[in-house]
Amino acid sequence: MFDRIARRYDLLNRLLSAGTDVRWRRACVDLLELGPPARVLDVATGTADLLVEALRRDANHRGVGVDLSEQMLRRGAAKLRRRRLDTRARLAAGDAEALPLPSASFDVATIGFGIRNVGNPLAALAEIRRVLRPGGRLAVLEFSQPPGWRGAIYRRYFQDVLPRIGGLVSGDAGAYAYLPASVARFPAPEDFASLMQRAGFTAVRWRLLTGGIACLHHGERPA
Ligand SMILES: C[S@@+](CC[C@H](N)C(=O)[O-])C[C@H]1O[C@@H](n2cnc3c(N)ncnc32)[C@H](O)[C@@H]1O
Repeated sequence: MFDRIARRYDLLNRLLSAGTDVRWRRACVDLLELGPPARVLDVATGTADLLVEALRRDANHRGVGVDLSEQMLRRGAAKLRRRRLDTRARLAAGDAEALPLPSASFDVATIGFGIRNVGNPLAALAEIRRVLRPGGRLAVLEFSQPPGWRGAIYRRYFQDVLPRIGGLVSGDAGAYAYLPASVARFPAPEDFASLMQRAGFTAVRWRLLTGGIACLHHGERPA
């Protein structure tokens, strides 16, 4: 599915969130308070937007992005070249549940709008914990479901309007119908925090972004 929508993925992100996704990714990287030089892993990197956001903060940061989708990675690689970040970053095909990376090799990890798509999120979290060094930190950015009457208005947009625009622009109606359905199935923030703890993370905390449209979780691999 992600191979099919890769061509219009970035455009649709900007369009459907009215540019807010850029601010969310900034908040995600801010949360990690990267001290230079940091070794950054971005899981389910897609077109590498989170990796770019992390690497542009300091010329000494280095990073790896992992994703299952060849077409998303192809676009991510082109983006890294355009931003002259390709000397400090590497993209690799791989599954979040079995990362093709050595243990304890990263200072920080991110996963943005990715964990919801993974077959076994607990296995993916455990893998991310494995490749982080002791004391290393993880930031998880994911959609959430805003509460209250504002949430009801937003759900209207998310379930009815967004799939139509997404389907028209991407040419793949199924992919943009999948988006609200997968968000509805995803655990509430407190339940996802418990899952992170089960995967062995400590210092687990979370906060809602933009009234609860998105949520940012933090966790640490114990020293
Ligand atoms: C919605 S995109 C998010 C991309 C990017 N992180 C961003 O912030 O825009 C979800 C990505 O997760 C990837 N993905 C889904 N399941 C995966 C898995 N098991 N392992 C690695 N990547 C996966 C998809 O290929 C897709 O590129």
